[in-house]
Amino acid sequence: MQTITSVQDLREVYKRRVPKMFIDYAESGSYSEQTLKWNREDLQKIRLKQKILTDVSKRDTKTTIAGKQVNVPLILAPIGLCGMQRADGEILAAKAANEAGIPFTLSTMSVCSIEDIASETKKPFWFQLYVMKDREFIRNLIARAAAAKCSALVLTVDLQILAQRHRDIKNGLSVPPKMKFVNVVDMLTKPRWLAGILTTKRRSFGNLVGHVKGMTNAGSLGEWTASQFDPALNWEDVKWIRKLWKGKLIIKGIMEVPDARLALKHGADGIVVSNHGGRQLDRAPSSISALPKIVDAIGDKTEILFDGGIRTGQDLMRALALGAKGAMIGRAFVYGLGANGQEGVRTAIECIRKELDMSMALCGVNKISEIDKRVLAD
Ligand code: GLV
Repeated sequence: MQTITSVQDLREVYKRRVPKMFIDYAESGSYSEQTLKWNREDLQKIRLKQKILTDVSKRDTKTTIAGKQVNVPLILAPIGLCGMQRADGEILAAKAANEAGIPFTLSTMSVCSIEDIASETKKPFWFQLYVMKDREFIRNLIARAAAAKCSALVLTVDLQILAQRHRDIKNGLSVPPKMKFVNVVDMLTKPRWLAGILTTKRRSFGNLVGHVKGMTNAGSLGEWTASQFDPALNWEDVKWIRKLWKGKLIIKGIMEVPDARLALKHGADGIVVSNHGGRQLDRAPSSISALPKIVDAIGDKTEILFDGGIRTGQDLMRALALGAKGAMIGRAFVYGLGANGQEGVRTAIECIRKELDMSMALCGVNKISEIDKRVLAD
């Protein structure tokens, strides 16, 4: 493998090793993909301020998130179908997160199940919840997350209906799936990926198999899921979830101050400022542009996490400077996963950690708690 010095390098390897339809799934935004682009562009506009001749010999990237110590203020974001990016992808990513000392978040729409992660890893992980129409299934899912001792429930609130991603439809990654001949040929040309997928027993929606009556294969489960998005979802449902889940509750998908305040009112222990990686409301502003006003409004009352476009430690520094307690990475770790499995995810996290550490040094900062607006250049 080529020498890897950044997440961008991992992406290049990823693009050679993973079938196109899963690359497209990970990389796509909805509709014109404008919000997806803004997420990255607006982050890049923020400049850091050089600070010279400060003693930065005691730098430390450790901090706490949701009451637990982390080695670097990063969290692996919930990503659907990680186990199709690489066989057993969620288990590999969770192990890498454990090694790196940061939380891993398992998506409801994962390939490996809650129980798989609990039995294959030693440290607690976070579980991301989509509230579906079948509330009995959801009640049960929450009980399963509690039984697995998940340390936080991440309630995603910006996907009660799925926005269109053109490439997924064209690739046949739709409900029902319409696998195209070209995609099959493409998969056959990715031997590493194929060997893993053919060897593992996990090739469906792990959290659903065996828990939805009469549904056994990925196709029927996909159809069931599509019929389960609930456009009627509202804050009453959040109240219900808050009662059911005794642990930390983090609400993900907040872009506006009134919603952030409502999340607090409904008992959230933290929120994630996110536009779902530009995959939902196209033309919504970038996540980074939404962060400061939310921090100003409720930053002293709760923990605010950031999600949307982080690929480097400099990006992470920018989000922290604007008031985030930590940030989720999604695509950045998927690149590592597809490129080189568990080791690739470790590399992605380590690249970002080292870049953050170096940026702290060059901005004259020793501790994460010292990163604030003062490290930003005009
Ligand atoms: C699901 O969360 C997706 O963005 O595909």
